[in-house]
Amino acid sequence: MDKTNTKKFYIKTYGCQMNVYDTERMVDVMAHEGYAVTESPDEADLVVLNTCHIREKAAEKVYSDIGRLRAMKEKKADDGKDMVLAVGGCVAQAEGDQIMKRAPVVDMVFGPQTYHRLPDMVKQATSQKAVGEKPRILDTDLSVDEKFESLGKKDVEQKTSAFLTVQEGCDKFCTYCVVPYTRGAEFSRNIEDVMTDARKLAEAGVVEVTLLGQNVNAYHGVGENGEEWSLARLIRELARDPGFQRIRYTTSHPSDMTEELIRVHAEVEQCMPYLHLPVQAGSDRILKAMNRHHTADSYRKIIEDLRKARPEIALSGDFIVGFPGETDEEFQETMQLVRDIGYAQAYSFKYSARPGTPAATMEDQVPEEVKAARLAELQAELSRQQVAFNEGTVGQVLPVLLERRGKGAGQLVGRSPYMQAVHVTLGDDSLLDRYFGRIVDVEILSAGPHSLKGQIIEEAAPVAARG
Ligand code: SAH
Ligand code: SF4
Ligand code: F3S
Repeated sequence: MDKTNTKKFYIKTYGCQMNVYDTERMVDVMAHEGYAVTESPDEADLVVLNTCHIREKAAEKVYSDIGRLRAMKEKKADDGKDMVLAVGGCVAQAEGDQIMKRAPVVDMVFGPQTYHRLPDMVKQATSQKAVGEKPRILDTDLSVDEKFESLGKKDVEQKTSAFLTVQEGCDKFCTYCVVPYTRGAEFSRNIEDVMTDARKLAEAGVVEVTLLGQNVNAYHGVGENGEEWSLARLIRELARDPGFQRIRYTTSHPSDMTEELIRVHAEVEQCMPYLHLPVQAGSDRILKAMNRHHTADSYRKIIEDLRKARPEIALSGDFIVGFPGETDEEFQETMQLVRDIGYAQAYSFKYSARPGTPAATMEDQVPEEVKAARLAELQAELSRQQVAFNEGTVGQVLPVLLERRGKGAGQLVGRSPYMQAVHVTLGDDSLLDRYFGRIVDVEILSAGPHSLKGQIIEEAAPVAARG
């Protein structure tokens, strides 16, 4: 491509890993149209905000970003240059009409299931502009099928660890959550498509794959003979063919944590001993009001079974404090559950009322200051646990996948099996290439709250294909 014709594309990603994955796919799609990614919005011909609607703060941030971009767009227009401003993702899906009304500067609004049409939308927005018209596009169709089909054949960029979306949407309808509305009904990609993408990733040098889905362990993709595959079966297959060294999956729901899947943690060595399994709360009354379909004890039992299957498994979770009607005693049940389980890492949030969800209109909304105090108490315990977990790995030798350069000279950063960031210093820049993208045995020398430091002992032997 002639360099002078290259257009610039700036994309900002909010929210979860599904959005990170979607952003990567949009970058692929637009690269085929001659758009190169830029880190500075002010030099971009196309700006996309890939938004998140999960909590009020996340959604509001989009409007303040639009405000800043409007100034940039106006300045560019003064210089005779054009900038297409697009809002994609979950806020677009939930509030598309409002964005069109509230922010006239926005040229295009498209939901999470329509980004494969981005090139067409951009063409439409730019071509008609040339004749002085200002078309505005709103596309919030929710049929997932098409998006995956048209993206399944795209090239993959070179990296060591990659996401692979296998499932989208959610039918669980937790009473606080917007995802079933923004992402639509649960959908599993078929085995053939997943395997095609998996092999492409492996060929491009990917050694670690993270299977993504809002409810990834509810996966039930159709196989070649028309039979349904569980996530457990898919993981076993991926460990064999293309034989990834490391396999992870996120996010899971306790109700879909089957015995078969727990067995995979015992039997498939490549299935990493780390699991993000949100529980949200420790009170059965609150869990019921949340429509979670599990109890605190059924969650405890799952964790017990997982630990029997893979004793070293590290756990991560999500928590919501201050759900409508939550009493101090009920919050203390969450604290008790946290102490019982012991997390390596976790995310915790103040309940945020989301328009259109059942919990938003429940009585007894908890005052902001009570939520803040509960969150502080919970986060103090969770960070204490995280520090303790990290310190517990000092002195151990862990296999680390070295996946990016560190800030210092001769430094590489990788991940332990437990998702901890591990920094190693090779002492010599010439060794970087040799170790980059490899799994090596690292002796952990020290631990901070968010990362570890270690030294390479030797290259770890590849895990034999099993399962
Ligand atoms: N499908 C995943 C992720 C859902 S969104 C799951 O079921 O776990 C990620 C997290 O955001 C949720 O686990 C929950 O802890 C939090 N969350 C969702 N809606 C929220 C709300 N209205 N207020 C506060 N936190 C919320
Ligand atoms: Fe939201 Fe619940 Fe579905 Fe997770 S399981 S995406 S929290 S509705
Ligand atoms: Fe946010 Fe949508 Fe993900 S609401 S958390 S970006 S599914």
